[in-house]
Amino acid sequence: MHKTLAIALLASVFGATAHSAELRGHGGPVRAISVAPDGKTVATGSFDTKTIIWSLETGEARDVLLFHEGEVSAVAALPNGRFASAGADGRIAIWQTGRGEPARILEGHTGPVADLELSPDGSMLASASWDTTVRLWPLAGGEARVLEGHGANVNALAFLADATLVSAGYDATVMFWPNQAEAPPIRAVMPTPLNTLARANGDRLFVGGADGQVRLLDRRGKVQLEVQVLRKPVIALAATPDANHLAVAGIGDGILLLDAMSLSTIRTLDTSGVAVWSLAFAAGGKTLLAGGADHLVREWNIETGERLGAAATGRTDPMARYAGNPDAEVFRACVACHTLDPNDGNRAGPTLHGIFGRKIASVPGYHYSPAFRKMDIVWTPQTVSELFELGPNAYTPGTKMPEQTISNAEDRAALIRFLQAETRTD
Ligand code: HEC
Repeated sequence: MHKTLAIALLASVFGATAHSAELRGHGGPVRAISVAPDGKTVATGSFDTKTIIWSLETGEARDVLLFHEGEVSAVAALPNGRFASAGADGRIAIWQTGRGEPARILEGHTGPVADLELSPDGSMLASASWDTTVRLWPLAGGEARVLEGHGANVNALAFLADATLVSAGYDATVMFWPNQAEAPPIRAVMPTPLNTLARANGDRLFVGGADGQVRLLDRRGKVQLEVQVLRKPVIALAATPDANHLAVAGIGDGILLLDAMSLSTIRTLDTSGVAVWSLAFAAGGKTLLAGGADHLVREWNIETGERLGAAATGRTDPMARYAGNPDAEVFRACVACHTLDPNDGNRAGPTLHGIFGRKIASVPGYHYSPAFRKMDIVWTPQTVSELFELGPNAYTPGTKMPEQTISNAEDRAALIRFLQAETRTD
């Protein structure tokens, strides 16, 4: 689990991270990304069991949401600033951000939930599960409609413009569920188990699966076009709203950007060998977010194919204010969630201002996890160092701080020196 920091340190030696816009804070591979309609807020779900709400403009984490037992494999932005998360525990949590607990919990699935999708009118949330069912939950409350027909794990969902729900799964089947409950579903069988779906304007529907091909389907599931894009399974697909671009990711193949009309490759986005688990377009389709196996979310300009940097986005590197302090680099792993200055307040984590000598869970107004509130620790150079030597999961079990360890003693010493200098109250 110390990979995040090792990569951060390594990259900083080569100057690679200094200007990149990235979301850094998860403690495991980033399995799901959803961009809110405002274009500024992003939700991510991870194998670390947490959902994180980010500001895309600043890279700050606003909230770490802890509820699920097991990985979070699906997130969806909902109307009115709400989000949904779901995963291995089969439960769906609806979050109103700024509150530590789910506003609502949707229960019914008896297997992991692999995907969530909001209906075009924003009234229904669809969920796909390895229990072989798809469910349609009215967001205003009431019973879910259970859609049965798949013969195996359902992995992916998309809505067509007329609210027809499309689902795809390991049974190699794409199902089209009409909006009217009475109408029978349409079933289309593909040559391979299916992992992911993406839909763009004009009801262009793309499906990807185990054979590494991308197929363009019409609205009855007939294959219009198929292209061998990857050598390995397609894990994630995302289409720009204008239906111009399709992004494709698979284990170990980087990200390919395709022309969504011809399915020909425009360019490859270099992920430095990092496997990509999730994709989402942002900035109206001008940038692409990718969730990596190395716990980071990276952002690319799709016109130029370049990794986005602070210079290109007008964002400032949050670490710039500590330039010249050789101990600061270790704090890059913390800066998304923690401020140090008394005026900067809390982010997803409590301010670390005055941390040394402070009792655990004692910043007024910050919503700590129940586990943290029950612990009896005073933060000293030694206890903070132990926290990251063992990792939060072992040192403070049940915490909502995502897992990370700093295995190198010199790095831990640098972090402590840095915090001692930057968090003093006098
Ligand atoms: C993704 C967000 C995130 C990242 C990254 C993160 N933390 Fe945290 N941290 C939290 C949260 C959330 C809490 C509160 C935990 C709880 O309530 O269970 C916390 C709590 C803490 C506490 C205890 C504070 C208190 O008031 O009791 C310390 C110390 C701390 N973090 C240090 C760090 C350091 C140092 C790093 C970087 C090596 C780091 N954190 C990285 C989110 C984060």
